[in-house]
Amino acid sequence: MIGRMKGIMTLACFLGAGFLVATLLTVQPSFAAALSPDDCIKCHDQAPMDIDTDGRRHKTDITCVDCHEGHPPRDLDIIPPCSNCHADTPHFELEGCMTCHNNPHTPLTISLTDNLTDPCLTCHTEQMAQLQQNQSAHTQVACSKCHREKHGFIPECSHCHSPHTEEMTNQDCLTCHMPHMPLAVTYPEDTPSKSCAACHDEAYELLIASQYKHKELLCATCHKEKHMTIPKCSDCHGSPHPAAMMTKFPNCGDCHGLAHDLNK
Ligand code: HEC
Ligand code: HEC
Ligand code: HEC
Ligand code: HEC
Ligand code: HEC
Ligand code: HEC
Ligand code: HEC
Ligand code: HEC
Ligand code: HEC
Ligand code: HEC
Ligand code: HEC
Ligand code: HEC
Repeated sequence: MIGRMKGIMTLACFLGAGFLVATLLTVQPSFAAALSPDDCIKCHDQAPMDIDTDGRRHKTDITCVDCHEGHPPRDLDIIPPCSNCHADTPHFELEGCMTCHNNPHTPLTISLTDNLTDPCLTCHTEQMAQLQQNQSAHTQVACSKCHREKHGFIPECSHCHSPHTEEMTNQDCLTCHMPHMPLAVTYPEDTPSKSCAACHDEAYELLIASQYKHKELLCATCHKEKHMTIPKCSDCHGSPHPAAMMTKFPNCGDCHGLAHDLNK
């Protein structure tokens, strides 16, 4: 080492100090440049294998040495921060990139803990808007409690709830409930009355036991579309009786009883 320094000093004296500085500055980069990505695999097997199988755009758009500059022999930190190349969007302002992207050599293998909401909002805002504008217990459930483990996973309701009736499938749940606004219940006109009967057995029993034509109708034919809608008789029957009679008895129910049991 001392011998080498001496040699360089002598060389420096001979050629001038300017040349020395230039030499020291160029030596390291040229050494690093001599290592090509093909060399890495001679000493490392895991990283090249990961990149090869699932490196995605870290495989196609860049190479090992775009990230790991100058190794060896330079004794520097050759682990790059993600921000070297990803910056200036809300997503890239997040802390701890590698808590989710936990292997930079397979960047789209993403693992999620079950308490995440804010990081999701760097890309998805629509769902949060729905959850907030339609307050329900789901507003307090973290996104990744439902969309768990793997990005894009869609949960079944039955993971957390039992169905109202045994025969209900997950698809049925979604015909009445939207997951991000579960209390805004809407349903199609062909919804089987049994689905309503799960909670309204009294109305159901009364209707099917009655002797009038309303029993042929589905609950959803009268209580259209949105839960808790109450129809007016005139929606379907218009004005069936003379106006004079209706002035005297303004309510249809005065003579016809209940919609579910006209007899009463
Ligand atoms: C001649 C063998 C050899 C070659 C070729 C080689 N490395 Fe290394 N590399 C090592 C050794 C030895 C270590 C230290 C391992 C340890 O500390 O466990 C290391 C460590 C590393 C580390 C970890 C550094 C840290 O701070 O933890 C990275 C990253 C790395 N090498 C990348 C590369 C890349 C990229 C290439 C190809 C451009 C490459 N290596 C080529 C031998 C080599
Ligand atoms: C997108 C940038 C990026 C690319 C491209 C990349 N790495 Fe890495 N590499 C990293 C980061 C970041 C770490 C630190 C990982 C950690 O802390 O767990 C790392 C860690 C390493 C390590 C040490 C830890 C380990 O996994 O053994 C080695 C060795 C390594 N890389 C080699 C390579 C090789 C070889 C290539 C090319 C085949 C490569 N890297 C491509 C970013 C990259
Ligand atoms: C040397 C530059 C560089 C570094 C450092 C780097 N990346 Fe990348 N990364 C790229 C490029 C280039 C792309 C492809 C174009 C783009 O998406 O910007 C990319 C793409 C990605 C993708 C999308 C992959 C795909 O196939 O669509 C993810 C995820 C990613 N990077 C995560 C990370 C994370 C996490 C880190 C830090 C551990 C990191 N990157 C560090 C350059 C880099
Ligand atoms: C809470 C988990 C999480 C954290 C933290 C996180 N990401 Fe992501 N990232 C994701 C998910 C999920 C995707 C979407 C992947 C997809 O589209 O398949 C993604 C996509 C990406 C992409 C590709 C799409 C794009 O917008 O370019 C890049 C690049 C990226 N992340 C880089 C980063 C960087 C850099 C950091 C740290 C500043 C980071 N991520 C922090 C979860 C995370
Ligand atoms: C970097 C941006 C980014 C981040 C962060 C991100 N996503 Fe995504 N997400 C996407 C993209 C892009 C898609 C694909 C959209 C498409 O296919 O139309 C997607 C799709 C989804 C899907 C739909 C999958 C399907 O089958 O329709 C769900 C669910 C999802 N993300 C949940 C989440 C959750 C939960 C988080 C937070 C842990 C999150 N995302 C974080 C970009 C992101
Ligand atoms: C109670 C469970 C639950 C919670 C909490 C939840 N989701 Fe969902 N999400 C679902 C279900 C179930 C679907 C599938 C809906 C379908 O197939 O019609 C879905 C669908 C999605 C989709 C696909 C596109 C769409 O809107 O249908 C995205 C993106 C998404 N959720 C993101 C999020 C984000 C971001 C959060 C947090 C702000 C979140 N979700 C909270 C259950 C949930
Ligand atoms: C990760 C668990 C989870 C999943 C998956 C889930 N929920 Fe929930 N849900 C909850 C929790 C927690 C509550 C509040 C406590 C309770 O009622 O059990 C809740 C409450 C509800 C409520 C009552 C809301 C209120 O404010 O009273 C409805 C309706 C509901 N869920 C429907 C659904 C439907 C439909 C699905 C499928 C699309 C679903 N949930 C999927 C966790 C979940
Ligand atoms: C025919 C429409 C319909 C179907 C199908 C349906 N629900 Fe409901 N659900 C409702 C109505 C209406 C409420 C009451 C909402 C309220 O209290 O305002 C409700 C309430 C709930 C609640 C709140 C707690 C409770 O029991 O009152 C949960 C949880 C729930 N549904 C989960 C589910 C699940 C899971 C499925 C699928 C197996 C499902 N629902 C299918 C209409 C339906
Ligand atoms: C999970 C249980 C559940 C299911 C399933 C359900 N409901 Fe309800 N329903 C309720 C609750 C709870 C109320 C509120 C009761 C109260 O406030 O006294 C209600 C109230 C009603 C009301 C009365 C509104 C008012 O102003 O008095 C009507 C009408 C109604 N439901 C129709 C239906 C129809 C039609 C279906 C099937 C498409 C249905 N419900 C399915 C739980 C349910
Ligand atoms: C012919 C139209 C019609 C049909 C079919 C019908 N309803 Fe109703 N329902 C009404 C009307 C109108 C009211 C308001 C009270 C009245 O005038 O009798 C009502 C009231 C209700 C109420 C609130 C008062 C109460 O009785 O508890 C519930 C709950 C209800 N219906 C549920 C149902 C269910 C469940 C079914 C199917 C089994 C059903 N309805 C079928 C028209 C109908
Ligand atoms: C969604 C439409 C709808 C609503 C709302 C409705 N009805 Fe009807 N109603 C019918 C239909 C359909 C019939 C059968 C007509 C036929 O077959 O000729 C019927 C039949 C009747 C009949 C004759 C019964 C029979 O067995 O012959 C009476 C009386 C009647 N409705 C009264 C009422 C009253 C009172 C109300 C309000 C409390 C009401 N309806 C609300 C659709 C409706
Ligand atoms: C003063 C008592 C009274 C009132 C109030 C009344 N009705 Fe009637 N309605 C009758 C009588 C009586 C009949 C004939 C009964 C029969 O034929 O069985 C009848 C018959 C009907 C029929 C059956 C016609 C047919 O073709 O069989 C319908 C539908 C009807 N009414 C609807 C209504 C509606 C809707 C209202 C409120 C706007 C109403 N009624 C108010 C006494 C009344």
